[in-house]
Amino acid sequence: MPFVVTGKCINCRYSDCVEVCPVDCFYQGENMLVINPDECIDCGVCEPECPIEAIKSDDELSNEELKWAEINAKFSALWPSIKETIGPMPRAEEFADQGSEEKLALLSEKPGE
Ligand code: SF4
Ligand code: F3S
Repeated sequence: MPFVVTGKCINCRYSDCVEVCPVDCFYQGENMLVINPDECIDCGVCEPECPIEAIKSDDELSNEELKWAEINAKFSALWPSIKETIGPMPRAEEFADQGSEEKLALLSEKPGE
């Protein structure tokens, strides 16, 4: 049961989660990160690192949140790997209180740089 980055990450992308992952299975989009479900070993160490609790185990996802498991699977195959923390996005604090559903329309499909 892999861990999943939910939409709360969008436009915050604190990236604290990346450095603790023992198998480097985070991938970087323009405004969020995702986890490759085939590479994640379900260790759980990334979950408490996220300051806005954007990471969940896939068995904790609500029905509404299941789409984020699909989004992680899809974009981890398309976006570049990220192995080191890059710091939050410039307006992270402004978006920190918004939930996944509010942020869905803001998801950029572009790869991160
Ligand atoms: Fe990496 Fe472990 Fe988080 Fe999976 S649960 S993304 S292996 S740190
Ligand atoms: Fe996103 Fe939280 Fe990681 S905001 S980049 S899941 S630390």
